[in-house]
Amino acid sequence: MAKPPLSMKPTGWFQVAWSAEIGVGAVHRMTYFGRELVAWRAQSGLLTVMDAYCEHLGAHLGFGGHVEGDVIECPFHGWQWDHEGRNVCIPYEKHPNRGRRIRTHPVVERNESVYIWHDVDGRSPFFEVPDVFTGFGDDSSSADYYPQATLFRERLELHPQYVLENGVDFAHFKFVHQTPIVPVFTRHDFDEPVSYVDFTITFEGDDGQSIEDVNSGVEAINGGLGVAVTKSWGMVDNRTITAVTPVDDSTCDVRFGVYIGRRSSSDPAKAEQRAQAFAQEVIRQFTQDVNIWQHQRYSDPPALSGSEYEGFTAIRTWAEQFYPIPTHDQRIQKSRHQ
Ligand code: FES
Ligand SMILES: [Fe+2]
Repeated sequence: MAKPPLSMKPTGWFQVAWSAEIGVGAVHRMTYFGRELVAWRAQSGLLTVMDAYCEHLGAHLGFGGHVEGDVIECPFHGWQWDHEGRNVCIPYEKHPNRGRRIRTHPVVERNESVYIWHDVDGRSPFFEVPDVFTGFGDDSSSADYYPQATLFRERLELHPQYVLENGVDFAHFKFVHQTPIVPVFTRHDFDEPVSYVDFTITFEGDDGQSIEDVNSGVEAINGGLGVAVTKSWGMVDNRTITAVTPVDDSTCDVRFGVYIGRRSSSDPAKAEQRAQAFAQEVIRQFTQDVNIWQHQRYSDPPALSGSEYEGFTAIRTWAEQFYPIPTHDQRIQKSRHQ
């Protein structure tokens, strides 16, 4: 196993749960970016993600904290905190403590997923989480797709950047996913924090075909290092969401969601069964990547072939904007190790 040399505190949106895991009134415990967090859903439906420790005497709100209307109440002395982390009630005093706040984290629910914004310097979000439907500007919505099939793998020793690098790694498809021929990238747009990658790919036929004759492909949108959504065309209509979230300095949780397009059919039950089987096939292919990533050691600088150079250089340069700027001491330390 190799601890990633890249910072595990990148800036961006990161998935921390699926919406359905946190019903109204629920308090959900989690650890991300080395912090103990709770997510809780008010009676109004509003979801809050905040640090887990009560600012009074430090009880962990994930163990016995409960939602009362639109606030969370600490199990230790009953202090109540609102969705901005403000104390709104001390049950045995006339006034709340107006000065103390529990740190809250910007949260977005989209595509049945819960994303939080992470930035070590506390900057506000400067890009949006890509939407697996509206992001592709084709008027699609979840109604056109069967419910999401998902995969959740916890605490793997990998880094979000490994996963993103798939987006320029044309050579792995043939070996990891057994595509008959090597795909071709038709778009690499790494100008903004949200980047775009398109490629022509087929899983059908033999190795005698030419990629120029292939009429299927994938479009991908990367929202920073944490979230990537894809849309396929020319094959079984599917969309995917890949989300990788650092838990601590050496591990990440990986979440993967697949939507299969609905098609009119004289036998809807059978069509749905077929869709479910195809979703499992997409998940199986994704786990082939996970098996590589979770044992990989980040290679820097990598031994790239001529045709790999441009894509990998573009994505690694793009990735740099999401890492905290190293302090003077860290830079000295790094140069000593080289
Ligand atoms: S520790 Fe939370 S109310 Fe006292
Ligand atoms: Fe892959």
